[in-house]
Amino acid sequence: MFIKQFRTGGDRNFGYLVADDVSRRAAVIDPSYSPQEIVAFASGNGYTIEYVFCTHDHFDHTNGNVVISDLTGKQALLYRDTEPVTGIQVSDGAQFPLGDLAITVLHTPGHTPDAICLYIGDAVFTGDTLFVGKVGGTDLGAGAEAEYHSLHGKLLKLPDDTRVFPGHDVGVEPVSTVAHERETNPFLTQPDLDAFVYLKKNWAAYKQEHGIA
Ligand SMILES: [Fe+2]
Repeated sequence: MFIKQFRTGGDRNFGYLVADDVSRRAAVIDPSYSPQEIVAFASGNGYTIEYVFCTHDHFDHTNGNVVISDLTGKQALLYRDTEPVTGIQVSDGAQFPLGDLAITVLHTPGHTPDAICLYIGDAVFTGDTLFVGKVGGTDLGAGAEAEYHSLHGKLLKLPDDTRVFPGHDVGVEPVSTVAHERETNPFLTQPDLDAFVYLKKNWAAYKQEHGIA
């Protein structure tokens, strides 16, 4: 499997090109501010873009959608959209074929109700649901609760060595693994939902106390 992480600008946003090595069929995730660069890289390296996904409907992830659609003929797919060629809907557990690989959709509401993560091979693309050492912003009520269940009920259920590719470069490293996040991410080491919400509420003080940027 081929993965290229693009620093697209914005708020240290990441976009991705993921491809099957053999067929060179590719998917773009969150083209963001750099649709031209990602498409140019793909065509320059013999990759055919089959799908464009957005992890959620926030402007800094979707603002390249019109341009990438013009360049590739592929409509960007968000949660609940139906991919026109395969007829597959972007819904929890849906699988999109990509050569010898499959892209599995995980619906992970919390940061937004439409948030999805994309699980491909040994990698998961987590958008603004999970960052390296942090998690996506939510309210302190229903949003936080939904995110807590998405993190523990879906993302932390993936195999330990699953590589984590987040939607923003806000951690100490640009990439992590499920096991590393489970063991070190302060939001994931909280014992229960109340403690998770408490940390969100008191994150500024926690960061200061622990010297986190
Ligand atoms: Fe977002």
